[in-house]
Amino acid sequence: MKHNKKGLGILTGGGDCPGLNAVIRAITKTAINVYDYEVIGFIDGFKGLVENQYITLDMETVSGIAHTGGTILGTTNRDNPFRYITGGTPEKPEFTDQSDRAIENIKRLGLEGLIIIGGDGSLNIAQKFFEKGVPIVGVPKTIDNDLSATDVTFGFNTAVDTASEALDRLHTTAESHHRVMILEVMGRYAGWIALHAGISGGADVILIPEIPYDINKVVNKIMQRYRLNKKFSIVVVAEGARAKDGEMVIQKMVPASHDPIRLGGIGHKVAEEIEKLAGVETRVTVLGHLQRGGSPVPYDRILATRYGVAAMDAFARGEFGSMVSLKGTEIVTVPLVEAIKKLRKVPLDSDLIHAAKSVGISFGD
Ligand code: F6P
Repeated sequence: MKHNKKGLGILTGGGDCPGLNAVIRAITKTAINVYDYEVIGFIDGFKGLVENQYITLDMETVSGIAHTGGTILGTTNRDNPFRYITGGTPEKPEFTDQSDRAIENIKRLGLEGLIIIGGDGSLNIAQKFFEKGVPIVGVPKTIDNDLSATDVTFGFNTAVDTASEALDRLHTTAESHHRVMILEVMGRYAGWIALHAGISGGADVILIPEIPYDINKVVNKIMQRYRLNKKFSIVVVAEGARAKDGEMVIQKMVPASHDPIRLGGIGHKVAEEIEKLAGVETRVTVLGHLQRGGSPVPYDRILATRYGVAAMDAFARGEFGSMVSLKGTEIVTVPLVEAIKKLRKVPLDSDLIHAAKSVGISFGD
């Protein structure tokens, strides 16, 4: 980097998410247009910070990317500078603290600090760097919408849009073949995607982690519909859903990751039980990474742009250790610690649950 201007580093951490590029673009353009900064982007999140791998972000690099999915910087949900893999095997990695190496790189590059775009894992790391004296501003990213201290994370609305469209498509086969169609969606330990997509896509049953289900209640709902001559049902299952007397279903473990548990498989478990108890042909679609990919919906492009501009404004004001957040209709800043204190789950007294139940959707409770 040239040293005649102020320097800023950006990185994207954790899983990719629709809207990341719109944030990168908004920060970079605001940094250059309004505050006369030079900006670099670290490659593959915290890995690039530790390994000193980065690209220069200028008007050319960020041009034409607001509508694109993924992140032009690359990302990883494995690399944590405070617990960095420096040996061992993928099954049994060995970790050491490489945070000082990362801080050396920040100093050597002449950066004033970092804007970190990430979910709870990356923002936890961001807070630790802040506590070690690095000026940090955070931007809340995740399709799961499970971060405290913000009403909405960017990427969530795109995921809901994709899941909703999937439900519209599943409806036709459900109705034509008189089947139960199950859609398993992501969301980790929170049911936001399932709840929103289920309401929007006209689901008959929604199973979320916050409300452990009784399979007999689910079957009752399906049979009740049969009696009303509705010979099909649509069931949305959040990957973190579990039976009242059961556990979450784990698909695999990723030992190197901040949160090593990868959920998945509950849709098939529910399907098996419905077929056994109700005797109705039941099929499962696991939406998987389709709901993280592709172009952000306009809402997310706008939210991501507002977050990016607000993050740069906060950085220029010296509001470090903060995260930009949407409260009602306003973008504000909140302490990073507030955002990472606990996961934001669907409150049981939420008006969304009330609305869903009022229109006849069963939660299996
Ligand atoms: O946090 C986003 C998310 O897509 C979750 O909904 C899901 O449980 C997880 O990431 C999947 O992670 P990976 O891409 O590592 O399989």
